[in-house]
Amino acid sequence: MKKAVYPGSFDPPTLGHVDILRRAAGLFDEVIVAVGANTAKKPMFSLEERVAMLQEIVAELPNVQVLPFDGLLVNFATQHDASAVIRGLRAVSDFENEFQMALANRTLAPNLETVFLMTSAEVMFVSSSIVKEIASLGGDVSGLVPKNVAARLMRMREGS
Ligand code: PNS
Repeated sequence: MKKAVYPGSFDPPTLGHVDILRRAAGLFDEVIVAVGANTAKKPMFSLEERVAMLQEIVAELPNVQVLPFDGLLVNFATQHDASAVIRGLRAVSDFENEFQMALANRTLAPNLETVFLMTSAEVMFVSSSIVKEIASLGGDVSGLVPKNVAARLMRMREGS
């Protein structure tokens, strides 16, 4: 059985993430979405909120589960018997950081492959940072994130 881990901050999950996730779910028998605790990045949404949003999103994908992780990604992947790490690539600007991360992970765990998947052209420009900026300035993010995420951003803006 081929198992992959799809790690990220997912703060918040976007349609770009969903696009990559669907592609990964079609390629692997099982995919674990690994939500990084990432305390250094001061996320807008708590770890629990990010996991909950993703669980709602993956409900339609039977071979995908969502789990939080802390510490080294390679340790999480090894503990879960994953043979691959999935990362989405949007543009050349992603490449340097992704290349560095993939090589660092390979040094730590030589048998764990990083697999890059290209996002659809329609969501190529979407990032969690852009979503947060637009939402915080009162813009409409419904074309950039799943419905449940848009609703949470709206509730957050309204302070409820
Ligand atoms: O969505 P992001 O912020 O690009 O995701 C980054 C993430 C969480 C995948 C990355 O920061 C990560 O793997 N963190 C865990 C710590 C780790 O393993 N670091 C060494 C590899 S660079």
